Amino acid sequence: MLRKQVKEGTNFIRRRLSHLTRLNIVKPSYFTFELTNKCNFFCKYCDQWKIKPDKELSLLEWKCVSKKIFDWMGPYNVKLSGGEPFLKKNIFDLIRYNNNLGIKTMINSNGYLIDDKLAEKIVKSNVHFIKISLISFNKDVNEDLRGRKDVFEKSMNAVKKLVYWKQKLNSNINISLAFLMNSQNLEEVEEMILWAKKIGVRIYLQVLVHNFKSDVRENLEKSELWPKNKKQIKEVFRKIILLKKNNYPIVQSMPILKLMREYFLRNEKIILRTPCKISYYSFIVDPEGNVRFCFGRHKNGLVGNIKEDSPKDIWFSKQSNIERENIRNCREFCRVHKPGRGFLI
Ligand SMILES: C[S@@+](CC[C@H](N)C(=O)[O-])C[C@H]1O[C@@H](n2cnc3c(N)ncnc32)[C@H](O)[C@@H]1O
Ligand code: SF4
Repeated sequence: MLRKQVKEGTNFIRRRLSHLTRLNIVKPSYFTFELTNKCNFFCKYCDQWKIKPDKELSLLEWKCVSKKIFDWMGPYNVKLSGGEPFLKKNIFDLIRYNNNLGIKTMINSNGYLIDDKLAEKIVKSNVHFIKISLISFNKDVNEDLRGRKDVFEKSMNAVKKLVYWKQKLNSNINISLAFLMNSQNLEEVEEMILWAKKIGVRIYLQVLVHNFKSDVRENLEKSELWPKNKKQIKEVFRKIILLKKNNYPIVQSMPILKLMREYFLRNEKIILRTPCKISYYSFIVDPEGNVRFCFGRHKNGLVGNIKEDSPKDIWFSKQSNIERENIRNCREFCRVHKPGRGFLI
């Protein structure tokens, strides 16, 4: 525990120094493997399912990626995401491989495929953490936002089954919900937090950002999903903050929750004053092996390909420094993203 705190403290200082001096003296704090672009949902706010899964890395290649990073970092934390990661064949081989190297594996999923059998397998696999994204208690909202009919029952059931197996096997697996706040579900945030507490899981609140995997920057504030009623935003956040004060299982810290409120209120002064340091902690590998720091920077944010170069060379490359400079000048509001407690993932 103490060692972990010292490591985090050192990384924090190194990250700050790197950002201040532009001399990169920090290693990434967490890795994301986007195992596939394939998805069984068609979310309105995500473009990933639209990408053809042509040249995706095989599972064997993902193991090589995992090992390459291990050789540089030693045991590290990785999030398996997508698209929908459970559509990747033999994903459990990769989890086992990581476990053997002492790598902590986490998973982001929409939960659709997680029935009783898969929930048991996940809990038994020694995955450290699983986060299931839910969008609403309302069936129509689910269908409208996620593009298919039986989403609500399946995703809720996934969470319940995971909780069941965690208790039955007395497992330490960390189960969380992700709730992406937008105009269609803002009124449900409180209910979702209460439900999370009731069934004994944590909840990550997320704010709507530009569609993932799209370099088109349409005006987010004009989108139908953008919450426009400022009075409602303030009231919803008043309730969230009260619940946080009363120890409801919201993952974000109080300062981040307040920043999220300002994000929705489009408070430029507060948000743009916060420097974005994502390029000093995040290392994202997409299904084709391309590396970027930021989810929001699709084609423009590439810094290398892990099939061709070592992760260390990519991290310290000239291209990475150029991208760090681009991110430094980025005017997007999602900059309040913080490791582990941030907005997007
Ligand atoms: C891209 S999904 C991949 C994993 C899985 N398919 C899922 O939906 O959980 C990862 C996370 O991104 C979030 N996300 C997707 N599009 C977003 C957007 N436009 N703004 C903010 N978060 C978004 C989702 O809520 C989800 O928690
Ligand atoms: S947010 Fe997740 S579930 Fe929805 S389309 Fe994107 S990858 Fe699929």
